[in-house]
Amino acid sequence: MNIVRNAPSAQELSDMYQRAGWIESPDTQQMERSVVAPSEWFVARDTDGSVMGIGRVITDYVRYAFIVDVITKSEYQKRGIASQIMDEITAFCRELSLDSVNLWPSEGKVGFYEKLGFYPLPASQPHMKLK
Ligand SMILES: CC(C)(COP(=O)(O)OP(=O)(O)OC[C@H]1O[C@@H](n2cnc3c(N)ncnc32)[C@H](O)[C@@H]1OP(=O)(O)O)[C@@H](O)C(=O)NCCC(=O)NCCS
Repeated sequence: MNIVRNAPSAQELSDMYQRAGWIESPDTQQMERSVVAPSEWFVARDTDGSVMGIGRVITDYVRYAFIVDVITKSEYQKRGIASQIMDEITAFCRELSLDSVNLWPSEGKVGFYEKLGFYPLPASQPHMKLK
């Protein structure tokens, strides 16, 4: 397994979102725009080139980073792939000496990210989304 720093293809990203159950039928043109948008990709590929897991960082390279799209295909889960992707992502963020590296765990994933060095913010500082 190799973690490569190129974006997945639009089809690969679409497949990962569907597998994660995040988007039922991703729009092809939107997926194409998404993979060329400025962001740092970390893609775990098997020796045959197929995607095993992904992770993405959106950052201003100075102060903030937002970690999104952390997904491992179900058949490769529990083998440490997302942890390796996250280790590379945190090393990348530490190298930039960013002030604020953020993510929003899916339900049940707080413990997973705590093991990787993240801590939950108090209820007084919740993650907020635009309605
Ligand atoms: C969350 C997710 C990315 C984790 O991927 P993963 O590659 O299985 O993660 P890892 O193998 O690095 O670690 C996952 C768990 O398996 C454990 N694990 C890792 N290697 C293991 C091994 N060889 N044997 C048994 N367990 C192992 C880890 O300790 C961790 O335990 P935890 O669930 O109790 O925290 C994956 O479950 C996923 O894609 N879920 C759907 C999308 C999603 O919710 N993403 C998170 C968005 S915030």
